[in-house]
Amino acid sequence: MKKYNVAVVGATGAVGEEIFRIFEEIDFPFNKIVPLASERSAGNTITFNDNTLVIKELTETIFKEEEIEIALFSAGGSISEKYASFAADAGAVVIDNTSHFRMNEDVPLVVPEVNPLEINEWKTTGIIANPNCSTIQMVQVLKPLDEAYDLQRVDVSTYQATSGGGKEAMAELVTQMQDFFAFKLDDSEHKAFPHQIALNVIPQIDVFMENGYTKEEMKMVNETIKILGKEVEVCATCVRVPTLRGHAESLTLTFDADVDANEARELLSKAPNIIIIDNPAESEYPMPAACVDQNETFVGRIRNDLYRKNVLNMFIVADNLRVGAATNAVRIAQKWVEMQEQ
Ligand code: A2P
Repeated sequence: MKKYNVAVVGATGAVGEEIFRIFEEIDFPFNKIVPLASERSAGNTITFNDNTLVIKELTETIFKEEEIEIALFSAGGSISEKYASFAADAGAVVIDNTSHFRMNEDVPLVVPEVNPLEINEWKTTGIIANPNCSTIQMVQVLKPLDEAYDLQRVDVSTYQATSGGGKEAMAELVTQMQDFFAFKLDDSEHKAFPHQIALNVIPQIDVFMENGYTKEEMKMVNETIKILGKEVEVCATCVRVPTLRGHAESLTLTFDADVDANEARELLSKAPNIIIIDNPAESEYPMPAACVDQNETFVGRIRNDLYRKNVLNMFIVADNLRVGAATNAVRIAQKWVEMQEQ
């Protein structure tokens, strides 16, 4: 089997670090793996599979110099905008974790459990986009239910962890909690979020659009339609909560057909990378604290609507840095490699 030269752009970030941890856990055909970050980090080292890797500076020429064949980008939209084309021009497949290319018609937007064949379209631009963290876990659950009952509408409220905003955002929550215990919370600064996040919930993620929804909410709308390849109605309310890792979502799903909660639970239990935790009598259901470092999406509280037979409610949770970002990117890379071998 061929071995590949891989680059991780944003290697020192919350998602980049997770990509290295996942690559340590799986059997990936590496020739080499090159950590890339800003000039601030260049020269620092990271440990990977007991080897010391030197972080290199992201430059326009680095992909050619290192003969990179797979480039995973997680350093923010502006970095992808500026540098992804240099990686693609050097012949690499770019797997981009930012929102920059997601809605570009020529760029496939892929969740391997849902629309793996879209990966074949990578050649048009050299880029494959990784969806938004909240979208990935949701469409993994929607897909098998759509196939069985014909999904018409999704109403979703999210409970999103601070790590969705990167390492500095996580640090902001920790600092504010420390300030709270030092009776200084009133003086605590906030930069990553529009308000204090400690002991609070903020019904705003990203900026507001003209239609009254936030950019994050519209990502869930537009990306879900693109990935499922069908015009479902999606109404999202995205909320930041004071957790570090793990996004939770409350879903109300409306189908064309009537749906039975027990049957839906059974169906989801057979779907790839989904784990059911649904035993209310024992207070067992998915929670962010229990999903950290896991590569699966957890589903529980599956129940029929009280009024409509074609409506189902449930609560889903996944590690946003893994399932919502790094794991999905690595699964795309694995699938892409598999397709090159065919
Ligand atoms: P660095 O640590 O050198 O600043 P997070 O999402 O956790 O905030 O991490 C952002 C990631 O993006 C980090 O790895 C960061 O590297 C990287 N990054 C930010 N700006 C640049 C840049 N101009 N060039 C390359 N990498 C960058």
